Amino acid sequence: MNLAALNEIAEKMVTPGKGILAADESTGTIQKRFDAIGVENTEQNRRDYRELIFRAAEPMRNYISGVILFEETLYQDAADGTPLVKLIAEAGAAPGIKVDKGAKPLPGFPGETITEGLDGLPQRLEKDYARGARFAKWRAVIDIADGLPTWGAIKANAHALARYAAICQAAQIVPIVEPEVMMDGAHDIERCDEVTRLVLMTVFRELFEQRVALEGIVLKPNMVVCGKDCGKPASVDEVAHRTIAALKATVPAAVPGIAYLSGGQSDEEATAHLDAMNKIGGFPWKMTFSFGRALQAAPQKAWSGERQNVPAAQRAFAHRARMNSLASIGQWEGALEAAA
Ligand code: 13P
Repeated sequence: MNLAALNEIAEKMVTPGKGILAADESTGTIQKRFDAIGVENTEQNRRDYRELIFRAAEPMRNYISGVILFEETLYQDAADGTPLVKLIAEAGAAPGIKVDKGAKPLPGFPGETITEGLDGLPQRLEKDYARGARFAKWRAVIDIADGLPTWGAIKANAHALARYAAICQAAQIVPIVEPEVMMDGAHDIERCDEVTRLVLMTVFRELFEQRVALEGIVLKPNMVVCGKDCGKPASVDEVAHRTIAALKATVPAAVPGIAYLSGGQSDEEATAHLDAMNKIGGFPWKMTFSFGRALQAAPQKAWSGERQNVPAAQRAFAHRARMNSLASIGQWEGALEAAA
């Protein structure tokens, strides 16, 4: 393992003013996104949609440091035969690959899941690296509900994340370590805070035990927010202060950067929270975005599967990417949304 080279990629992924586009929806997840805009979930539609995003030169070049791809996309070509991964690399962004096989029921733990995908991972990574992937992603899912999460599920998911991260580093691929505490439910922000701290602490203990070099990872956590059905959402200021405090208490300073998931927050909420944290500052890591929905909901709606809507979709993507770029350096303002 060449740690200096891994660290260089990790630093590049969290370059101030840039962030990560999570375009790695599995075929099942993109189905939900396409259903919302009335587009049939075919291989060609998935290709056409993603191609229009990767060909949006201005935002790709200026605001996007890396793109997480689903395996299909990493090996897919644009309509003119150019590998999609080449479009990304030519824009100066690092191509990445989602390597987990999804969250499956955890035996003995009703309502909880374990993320699968460790078997054969070294061989897959070797192939993915040859195709251009320089980082990877693995998402662990932690649900909050009555009596959940259990310690057994947290421990199993943290261990799998650490095994994945060690395997990636051995393959010269930067692991995005993503333990997502879900927003689903009516829990308050205090509960999310408590669970997020326990999960992060457990993940970093497991990373240490599996000898993962923290300088060569990027952490992708949830923000500390209240549950979707909690009634009254917390203020932007409270989310920002609590998230920073939870991370400061649990994440070592050796980690180069934090790239948040959006997790079902609205586009503007996710941007406002990231911006508020960077305005507050006083933490040792870069803090940026690794958004899926909060970057793509607007362009997907603008596109709606129609070729003539491609320029409008690219403009919608450029706008959200620029807003989040500004948030990654604490220079976003709500007025910029209205102006657009
Ligand atoms: P969201 O930003 O839509 O949560 O997606 C990010 C992601 O990659 C989840 O694994």
